[in-house]
Amino acid sequence: MVMETPYGEIPDRFVPDMRPQEMHDYLRKRYGRRTVLKGGMLAAAASLAGPLFWKQSGSAFAAGPTAPQWISYGPDPTTSMYLNWSVGSYNTPASAPSPQVRWGTTSGYGSTQAASGGTVPVPAPPWTDTAGDADDTVYLNTLLTGLTPGTTYHYSVSSDGVNWSSDVTFTTGQANPTSPWTFAVTGDEATNSATTLPIAEVIAGINPEFTIIAGDLSYASGGVLLPAGGGAQPSFTPSAWDTYFQYVGPTAQSIPWLPGVGNHEMEPLTDDGYAGFVTRFPQPYDLTSGSPVVRDFTFGNVAFLQLDGNDLSAEISPNVGYTGGAQTTWLRNKLAGYRAAGSGIDFIVVSFHNCMFCSNQTHGSDGGIRTVWQPIFDEYNVDVVFNGHVHAYERAHPISGTTVTLAPTGSTVEPLTAGTTYICAGGGGQSLYTTWYGTSSGGTTAGTGSAKAWEFPTDPASGTGGSGTASDPTDPWLAAAGVGSFSAYRQAVWSCLQVTVTPAPEGGTTTMLIQALDPTQNAGGVTSYANPTVMDNVTLSRTAGPPAVTPEVGSTDTLLLAGGAVLGAGAYALHRQRRGHGTPDAVGPLN
Ligand SMILES: [Fe+2]
Repeated sequence: MVMETPYGEIPDRFVPDMRPQEMHDYLRKRYGRRTVLKGGMLAAAASLAGPLFWKQSGSAFAAGPTAPQWISYGPDPTTSMYLNWSVGSYNTPASAPSPQVRWGTTSGYGSTQAASGGTVPVPAPPWTDTAGDADDTVYLNTLLTGLTPGTTYHYSVSSDGVNWSSDVTFTTGQANPTSPWTFAVTGDEATNSATTLPIAEVIAGINPEFTIIAGDLSYASGGVLLPAGGGAQPSFTPSAWDTYFQYVGPTAQSIPWLPGVGNHEMEPLTDDGYAGFVTRFPQPYDLTSGSPVVRDFTFGNVAFLQLDGNDLSAEISPNVGYTGGAQTTWLRNKLAGYRAAGSGIDFIVVSFHNCMFCSNQTHGSDGGIRTVWQPIFDEYNVDVVFNGHVHAYERAHPISGTTVTLAPTGSTVEPLTAGTTYICAGGGGQSLYTTWYGTSSGGTTAGTGSAKAWEFPTDPASGTGGSGTASDPTDPWLAAAGVGSFSAYRQAVWSCLQVTVTPAPEGGTTTMLIQALDPTQNAGGVTSYANPTVMDNVTLSRTAGPPAVTPEVGSTDTLLLAGGAVLGAGAYALHRQRRGHGTPDAVGPLN
């Protein structure tokens, strides 16, 4: 739960330990200086009014000010930004009669832009709607373009043109960073005030350029997966997204929140189940991948590819093979482009949900994905892969083929010779998985048995198998590698990653420092989000290549997809048409 004030919200768990000035500082940090100062006597009021001044908030927030908000990069991270917000479940488009944003380089704004396309409801489901809250969740968004790189903007949103949210800021991506810059990674966040919210606060403390989410966000899908052809899904609770955005919104409204899909983003709608995801998270997805949720972008000398592991998972079957191999072809082409001379790219970062190398006894490694993508990651020397799915932190030693190069905590790794580092960053808030197979070089070193991996009965890369009938056999990769473990460090804690990239001129040494942050916590949750411990770290090192030869790789095809404010739903409809579904019957009217 959170404590709601007229000036913003403070998590319950932090309130008892906060002095009035700390409350004031917290709210100023989270909700913007202007709004809090407008409150005037907040500190004094908080200390005097006590319970009369605060009230508990539930998951519904439509009656409050327009919030929460979240932002994401447009086609060019340096010049465009999606601004998104929600008026919550149990509402209709009538709750947002005139959605718009005001924005500018100062809190005086100067520009106003309509959320063109209006409201975007979650598609009406063809399944048993026991909660009665699925088809009336209203999301709004607009795409700002023509922004100046590396510049801080102020913005405020309104659903009716009368009541405006508080002033917040965002900063566009740097065009050619020459100084160290940082991004964050997490996954498996859930809707837990004791864990989800403080991990988002840890990220806010990092103040990264952006955050990569490796899938499994709100868990609105519950524990029941998308069934073939729809059907009853009583555990589907779309209003969980309300809670999710309440917890991450104070961070994600200022720091671009860039999620990929996990198994829990396959919601019980139709087809691949991603209609809700693309509605909530408009991003420049690249439909040439055969998927509505796959994309890539660049930031400085780093390329980021956000993939859909559900396409190849041997463990979780609903979407296996749904791109017909197109995603893997797209992946190969993209990697070839980024590794080509003149791309300007030194580091390649890939993220998707299911781990290829993980020694946890829950989920563990997905051999289905590994079989198809590891050879490609090896061929193009991908530097690091970020996953989730397993609710814990684990870093594998760098791997190339079946060769493991030991890299204990604090190591510097040369990906060019050592291969790819695989990291599970699934400690974002969901209940932890604490039992491990085998051994590890650091953290929780001891486990039982030997690490295992899910495998298809036959290889999906050959066009056979892929039924989704999965078992949990002994890991054939480990047997081939002749090693007992690939694990460098593992710990079942709520955590996130802080990744710092230090650029270098051509011929110099460019580095990527990956730090796993472990905030103070007990079995019940995170007790302090300040000053988290760095429990594990590794530095990736490369010789910097030449700067990019224009145009930037990956920027042309995605531009074609920037159709406007309803990009998410529009892209999804196009995806369905390309898959031969004709009129998108289940996407529903955009009213
Ligand atoms: Fe998952």
